[in-house]
Amino acid sequence: MECTQAEAFEQYIRDLRVVRSISRPSFPEGKAPVAVLEEIQTNALRCNALMRQNEALLAQFVYDRDPASLTEEDIQGLSAFAGRLFNYANSEDMGVAFKVHQLLLAAARSREDVPMIVRELYYTGITLHYMNVRDEATGINLLGDAIEVYFTEAVEYMSRYEQLDKNTRQYLIRCVGNTRLGMSRGTHEESRQYLEQMPASQYPRVVSSAAWELSKISSSSDETANRRMLGSILAGHKPTYVHSLMVAELTRALLQRQIETRPETLVGLLGCRSAAEVQTRREELCQTAYECGLYHDLGKCAVLMYIDNNARRLLDEEFFCIQSHPRTGAAILNRMGCGRTLAPAALYHHCYYNGKGGYPNDVPSCPPEIKGIVDALSVADSLDAATDNIGRCYNLAKPFRTLLEELRAQSGTRYAPNVVALFEDERFCQQLAENTDAERKRVYLQVYHAGSEEK
Ligand SMILES: [Fe+2]
Ligand SMILES: [Fe+2]
Repeated sequence: MECTQAEAFEQYIRDLRVVRSISRPSFPEGKAPVAVLEEIQTNALRCNALMRQNEALLAQFVYDRDPASLTEEDIQGLSAFAGRLFNYANSEDMGVAFKVHQLLLAAARSREDVPMIVRELYYTGITLHYMNVRDEATGINLLGDAIEVYFTEAVEYMSRYEQLDKNTRQYLIRCVGNTRLGMSRGTHEESRQYLEQMPASQYPRVVSSAAWELSKISSSSDETANRRMLGSILAGHKPTYVHSLMVAELTRALLQRQIETRPETLVGLLGCRSAAEVQTRREELCQTAYECGLYHDLGKCAVLMYIDNNARRLLDEEFFCIQSHPRTGAAILNRMGCGRTLAPAALYHHCYYNGKGGYPNDVPSCPPEIKGIVDALSVADSLDAATDNIGRCYNLAKPFRTLLEELRAQSGTRYAPNVVALFEDERFCQQLAENTDAERKRVYLQVYHAGSEEK
């Protein structure tokens, strides 16, 4: 379909809004469960089609464009489009606004247009900044270095201040102020002070509101209250909540099977000294596995408030931010008094079994105390992500069998051989596939359907 730039941008925004509304449905109590599940799935397929369409539009009008060939009219259209997408804390899509400003910056450079360069350095830096999330472990900016490059380059135009028009001077001054945004603060305390010194109307609310709010939650000595709090954080993002409930079930099922068939492979888990002890403590181990699964992606709830369903693939910069979720999750869980089991499970769930891949890649190897559960969790995580045939619009679900082939291919590297070996039993596979399907329907209804009872 051929369309003009203006039409393409209109369509992008329209589709984006449709995807946003249909991917977050809620259903009245009286609606039949079958109809609810059907609608969730129809929506997911529609989202998938719209996303493909939007990806194509973005490729044609933004990603693959030659900056040197942009006309004055193109530039005006692109600026207006970016302006509609970017609105600080309430942006429609910061990621695409950033990509548009990157393109406009390249156009400005090819034209050697200084006012435009200064303006676009400001917008490229500031959109990247608002895409950013706070990382508990390292301070405030995950993309700090990249952000700083833009503002610092703008500051170099200070020497031409007198020759610049009023508008450009204002952008320049904002860039000078914002060079501070690129600095990463070394400690938690420094981050806190930095945020508190900022005027209330400025950036901190936006930069860090989600993770920051979480970091202020003080842990209670009452364990039930802590769990309730964690549950509320998780429930804030429904797709993550569905995934977490599924991964919890699957992690428990895998561990239970391993305890039944080869308990000796789990000696060391939570201090178990023998296969017999593993079997005796089976219930406790399975319950811990369930909880580790439930909270493994807790850190995503902080990240996803910035990078949510944008009806397109994640940008590299966004993927980089998402990669902070094991650390953010572990930090929150540590504060909530779950440092022995849940926090390390969250921290290591994307690390490879053999320690030679995945992320974060700068942590010591997973402690044996929790490794058996993390091994089951990594497999459960992939199983759910790949086989969700109801509500995922990123990839269409794979058949259970295809996925097993992938698990086998990565046994010993990404996945633990002891867990992959469980799938050699045909009956177990069959049953797990059936249970997973039934459980998924139940979980979707629990999360999206107002009338369904809590488990
Ligand atoms: Fe994860
Ligand atoms: Fe996950």
